[in-house]
Amino acid sequence: MKAGLKGKDLGKAIPKELPECMGAVASAVYLLILIAFIPFVFYKDIVAATSGGGNRDVVLTVTQIETGRFLQRFPHSKLGSYQSVLNTLQATTILGLADDILDLRWRHKFFIPAIACIPLLIVYYVDFGVTSVVVPNFLVPYMPNGARLIHLGPLYYAFMAAISIFAPNSINILAGINGLEVGQSLVIAGLLVLNSSLYLVPFPGNPILNNGYATRPHPATESHLMTLYLLLPFMGVSTALYIHNRYPARVFVGDTYCYVAGMTFACVAIMAHFSKTLLLLFIPQIFNFVYSVPQLFKIIPCPRHRLPRFNARTGLREPSVTKWEDRPPSKTLTAAFFLLERMRLIQLTIDPATNRISETSNLTLINLWLVWRGPLREDRLNNELLVLQIACGILGLFIRHTMAVLIFSMDNRGKYGERFPV
Ligand code: UD1
Ligand code: MG
Repeated sequence: MKAGLKGKDLGKAIPKELPECMGAVASAVYLLILIAFIPFVFYKDIVAATSGGGNRDVVLTVTQIETGRFLQRFPHSKLGSYQSVLNTLQATTILGLADDILDLRWRHKFFIPAIACIPLLIVYYVDFGVTSVVVPNFLVPYMPNGARLIHLGPLYYAFMAAISIFAPNSINILAGINGLEVGQSLVIAGLLVLNSSLYLVPFPGNPILNNGYATRPHPATESHLMTLYLLLPFMGVSTALYIHNRYPARVFVGDTYCYVAGMTFACVAIMAHFSKTLLLLFIPQIFNFVYSVPQLFKIIPCPRHRLPRFNARTGLREPSVTKWEDRPPSKTLTAAFFLLERMRLIQLTIDPATNRISETSNLTLINLWLVWRGPLREDRLNNELLVLQIACGILGLFIRHTMAVLIFSMDNRGKYGERFPV
């Protein structure tokens, strides 16, 4: 607060100044944990590469022992992906700090995440290189030669870079009530941990092909383990931050946290090749972004803050509004507003004197939820939005692991047959 990093809690009767940017502390601790964890991730590999026999975890065959030191067996590529995630997250932390301190314009900071994730994309290119997506069954007959895969090539890299821009920003704009930024990130991280854990359960294999084992690990086990290494400490620091940021907030998380959280999700999704699954966990954020487009692109005015308004009489939060008194909306906009109102997607106030629209609710999911549910207390509103996030995420994962089999003929969890190549 001494450094001027403070903000007013706009949702309280007497707006108190709170320390802003506490996400920087969480991010710094997170980065240090990730660095300190390196020896543990690679413990087995380091021992195998340097000490020869003598360790009980790794069984070495005679041919391996005869090669002397086994440095060439050390999985440099795995270390490469881990390091590039660190690179990306460090660059993101710097971007977030710069934004919190200097309040960058969005046109200056928009492409920075895409540049920050280049190390990750390079590792992806060298190590993995899969740029194909599976064609849904019903489209296969229309594909040339009945192809089951479409090769997107460079477009797939553009798609991954777009995810790295979208994820941090979409979390940052679904914000404005105590606990929501961290809460939604915790829910997404928790569901990703659940999703990755599914891949750790070995599934039946052919004992002859599998060194006598009746089960074999899923081919994506390693990348999903890596996902857990990155997400579990993230959940740790986020839980600590949530305790201080939940209603009534004692700190604000700042843009640093939102960017680092979104980028962490983008990193694991790119690294473990599940960027499309990630989008299923971002349903509320995607909705909020699409719904916000008219205000983000200034088709209709966008005030600096769109967070719900605090009603001092009731102590509840109500949708915040854009006022049109000075400059009434054009005919097209008026028609669009009335259509949205009929679909219960906006709240309008009509000025009885002029019979014109005088106020429209700001286009955010938080305000829309209040339009549907009526005024709510801040903590209740936050909890309901988190339940919505959980419900959408579980539905998304359910679709991913059940419907995908119907639509794509196979699921890469391997449950319904052989593993699909991507
Ligand atoms: C984004 C939203 C903005 C919203 C803001 C709230 C868009 C385009 N931008 O802007 O509409 O108002 O987040 O975070 O949708 N604050 C509270 N209570 C909270 C959280 C924040 O009062 O629980 C206020 C505080 O004054 C705090 C400020 O919001 O200082 C932080 O806003 P900031 O993160 O800088 O806003 P943006 O991310 O630019
Ligand atoms: Mg913000």
